[in-house]
Amino acid sequence: MGVLFSTLITIADSITMANKTLFMLLLSHIILCFSIVFSNLDVSVAEDGLPKFGHVCDPARFEMLGLNMDEFAYCDKSLPYDVRAKDLVDSMSLVEKAEQMGDNTSVGIPRIGLPPYKWWSEALHGVADTGRSTKFDSAVPSATSFPTVILTTASFNQTLWKTIGQVVSTEARAMYNLGRAGLTFWSPNINVVRDPRWGRTLETPGEDPFVVGLYAVNYVRGLQDIEGQDNTSDPNSRPLKVSACCKHFAAYDVENYLGLDRLHFDAKVAEQDMVETFNRPFEMCVKDGDVSSVMCSFNRVNGIPTCADSYLLKKLVREDWNLHGYVVADCDSIAEIVKSHKWLDDTWEDASAQVLKAGLYGFGLWRFLQVSSKRRFFDGIPALASLGRKDICSEENIELAAEAARQGIVLLKNDNETLPLDATEIKSLALIGPHANATDAMIGNYAGIPCKFISPLEGFSAFGQVTYEMGCAEMKCQNDSMINSAVNASKQADATLLFVGLNLDLEAEWIDRKDLLLPGYQTQLVTEVAEASKGPVILVIMSATVVDISFAKINPKIKSIIWAGYPGEQGGRAIADVAFGNYNPGGRLPLTWYEANYVDKLPMTSMALRPVGDYPGRTYKFFNGSTVYPFGYGLSYTNFTYEHKFEEMSINITLNRLQHCHNLTYLDENYQQDCPSVSIDDLACKDEIAFDVTVQNIGQKDGSDVVMVYSVPPKEINGTHIKQLVGFERVDLKAKESKKVNFGLNACQSLNIVDVSGYKLLASGLHNIVVGDNALQIPVQVNYNR
Ligand SMILES: *[C@@H]1O[C@H](CO)[C@@H](O)[C@H](O)[C@H]1NC(C)=O
Ligand SMILES: *[C@@H]1O[C@H](CO)[C@@H](O)[C@H](O)[C@H]1NC(C)=O
Ligand SMILES: *[C@@H]1O[C@H](CO)[C@@H](O)[C@H](O)[C@H]1NC(C)=O
Ligand SMILES: *[C@@H]1O[C@H](CO)[C@@H](O)[C@H](O)[C@H]1NC(C)=O
Ligand SMILES: *[C@@H]1O[C@H](CO)[C@@H](O)[C@H](O)[C@H]1NC(C)=O
Ligand SMILES: *[C@@H]1O[C@H](CO)[C@@H](O)[C@H](O)[C@H]1NC(C)=O
Ligand SMILES: *[C@@H]1O[C@H](CO)[C@@H](O)[C@H](O)[C@H]1NC(C)=O
Ligand SMILES: *[C@@H]1O[C@H](CO)[C@@H](O)[C@H](O)[C@H]1NC(C)=O
Ligand SMILES: *[C@@H]1O[C@H](CO)[C@@H](O)[C@H](O)[C@H]1NC(C)=O
Ligand SMILES: *[C@@H]1O[C@H](CO)[C@@H](O)[C@H](O)[C@H]1NC(C)=O
Ligand SMILES: *[C@@H]1O[C@H](CO)[C@@H](O)[C@H](O)[C@H]1NC(C)=O
Ligand SMILES: *[C@@H]1O[C@H](CO)[C@@H](O)[C@H](O)[C@H]1NC(C)=O
Repeated sequence: MGVLFSTLITIADSITMANKTLFMLLLSHIILCFSIVFSNLDVSVAEDGLPKFGHVCDPARFEMLGLNMDEFAYCDKSLPYDVRAKDLVDSMSLVEKAEQMGDNTSVGIPRIGLPPYKWWSEALHGVADTGRSTKFDSAVPSATSFPTVILTTASFNQTLWKTIGQVVSTEARAMYNLGRAGLTFWSPNINVVRDPRWGRTLETPGEDPFVVGLYAVNYVRGLQDIEGQDNTSDPNSRPLKVSACCKHFAAYDVENYLGLDRLHFDAKVAEQDMVETFNRPFEMCVKDGDVSSVMCSFNRVNGIPTCADSYLLKKLVREDWNLHGYVVADCDSIAEIVKSHKWLDDTWEDASAQVLKAGLYGFGLWRFLQVSSKRRFFDGIPALASLGRKDICSEENIELAAEAARQGIVLLKNDNETLPLDATEIKSLALIGPHANATDAMIGNYAGIPCKFISPLEGFSAFGQVTYEMGCAEMKCQNDSMINSAVNASKQADATLLFVGLNLDLEAEWIDRKDLLLPGYQTQLVTEVAEASKGPVILVIMSATVVDISFAKINPKIKSIIWAGYPGEQGGRAIADVAFGNYNPGGRLPLTWYEANYVDKLPMTSMALRPVGDYPGRTYKFFNGSTVYPFGYGLSYTNFTYEHKFEEMSINITLNRLQHCHNLTYLDENYQQDCPSVSIDDLACKDEIAFDVTVQNIGQKDGSDVVMVYSVPPKEINGTHIKQLVGFERVDLKAKESKKVNFGLNACQSLNIVDVSGYKLLASGLHNIVVGDNALQIPVQVNYNR
């Protein structure tokens, strides 16, 4: 191992001396676009006439190249993977090594039987056509397009998150077998939504670091794990179905705010926020998800470009969290160190050397190749070799896309139980608004070509006579010229459904929002149509980020409001199923829906989560103002109650002489604790807070509820979060049924607070476990004794 590292450090060192051309090669595309373009040489033709991608160490392939595979130790299956990877690296010249790390310049090394390979594939919510490796054509015309991540997250169903990952990787591996995709996917995007203006919110699991982390773990395990082989004694050689990538590390969540863009942004982040918020999902993704790759981001953090930050990449990701894989850079983020950040007046050569030394690739090529061996690029995985066309866009997969949308959809308002609509009474429907016939908008970005769209128009046509009016020429809705005909339509119909919101013209990569309002004349459209409508009005919002719809919330003519995120290829069907009661909604908002004036109170570039000066706090953990809807909000067609058999709970920890106390600042200067807190790194952390909650469906309809469990730190401590989510469970309940849901929370993990220095502390005093919206409070006393 030591030898290997020094070999690779030598590569990094020699880079500073090597010629410029070499580094232009390295830089031009390094990484995201990093293709060891392994593919073309490797294509053979299968019986069905389709090109078929085999594995590297195939004797027949070597024979075609005029080589004898037996002469290449890296193809010797009897050797351990790290030995094989070292052999391969050692067989390359310096120039060849650099060429394997670029994109379109990399052609493999026929001399030693190494085929080209394209590194860049994406699978954020289905196999995407973003990147250089994935291709849709007559061989594979489409792949299942699930809802965007922000909506899937709203299901708060970990099983669903993992199941989607499994289906996506099955389709991905099938596409690979058909020569239509790589095996390295730069997904998921797990940056925390710190600010509601962020344009890439749709790609992410929302504002709560714990939820984001759990989403990452489940999705990554779904993508990577091969059933029965998720635990092997050597995690460096565990076989992967495909390789996932948690991105973008770290503190990346500004696209373009008042002209300051992500390529120039220097995020000033306190260590407290780094530990508590920005790093946490990545830590969970690496430690619990065992992801095989982490991508560094475009921005700087406290002055240093993340891709050149050895503390982040080497100390945290590799050493502390123990990444079994490599770190990859975002597209041209290394070039941007020179071009945009102008960091340290770097030359191209300087930047290349700095990133390699900081831990990019994990000391060079070797980690990459090791992951190549894990996804069995060299040897293949017989059990996955039969995946093919039949496994892509199957009925079952398409049904899961519809199910994900149904589970995610959030019911925000439902006066007088207007929903579900009764198809025997409501026969004619007016479908109005720029999203009423949405197709592409439903799959957002990083999408592929879906198997089959079902727009709202098509979905609702299954339930009644539909008239359709766009109301706006496009999403920005720049004039009112189409409102009158929309108003007319609503006068005739038994019920009116308004489909408004945002799309990629308004929130996307490079596009942050400037306000939290519906764009242009959309508000006027909604108000005028509601005023004129004959029947009940249902408002459906398609958006990722927050939309201040207070006007609709208080409008008595608008009986019901649904948030449908961007619901994927089957979205129209899912919304119609919810509206007509084929499915009882149970999704919860993964974001705080701030009021519109929130964004006037603080710039997007302020990274602090806690209130600072006049700036309010961010996310439900630190924002204590009024909202349109809070984080975790969501109604159902039935009601649930919670019960808990009260027991006094306490945790008594006897400290030894090596366990020291940390002071805390208290709001009340008279309040005292002998030992205010102890770092959780110094505690055994065996204490469990076990309790159960009996959930009862007291209504007339079957439904599902998300039981959300928060911890609240002792109220005397200054500067902590208001509360933090520590557990949740989605449960199905028939009408009148009740179920016991068990929670077992680790006291260190669930009660800790992060102090200004970034220490995770377990404080003494009276903590509270809160279930739901304060429905139950369970006090937990923590005591330290000597
Ligand atoms: C890579 O391809 C792009 C176009 O796809 C081209 O502009 C660029 O010059 C190529 N880079 C190199 C180093 O060949
Ligand atoms: C894998 O190992 C971990 C830790 O040893 C354990 O918690 C987990 O349950 C195991 N998973 C499986 C699928 O066996
Ligand atoms: C519900 O219906 C009743 C009776 O029709 C009506 O009086 C009441 O105002 C309605 N409530 C709401 C919130 O619409
Ligand atoms: C709905 O959208 C589809 C796909 O864009 C289009 O083919 C169809 O004509 C639209 N329907 C109406 C009524 O405009
Ligand atoms: C309204 O906006 C649409 C799209 O921007 C444009 O095509 C149309 O001409 C405008 N109509 C009027 C009356 O301004
Ligand atoms: C709305 O309906 C009225 C009466 O039915 C009709 O005179 C008018 O032309 C219609 N307006 C539009 C924009 O369709
Ligand atoms: C749920 O309970 C609330 C408050 O008691 C009540 O207003 C509402 O009508 C109930 N909803 C259903 C679907 O039973
Ligand atoms: C912790 O100590 C308190 C008194 O200091 C006692 O009442 C309580 O039962 C103890 N709890 C446990 C779990 O031992
Ligand atoms: C903690 O605070 C106490 C009381 O103010 C003080 O005596 C003690 O030195 C402080 N301990 C540390 C480690 O700072
Ligand atoms: C609480 O912390 C804030 C921010 O650090 C500080 O301004 C304030 O003075 C503290 N309050 C007390 C009572 O120590
Ligand atoms: C929230 O703000 C209110 C009003 O300023 C204050 O009374 C309350 O203590 C605050 N709550 C928290 C948890 O900070
Ligand atoms: C969670 O998702 C899985 C997979 O779709 C589904 O089988 C299960 O019923 C869901 N659980 C609940 C409580 O909705």
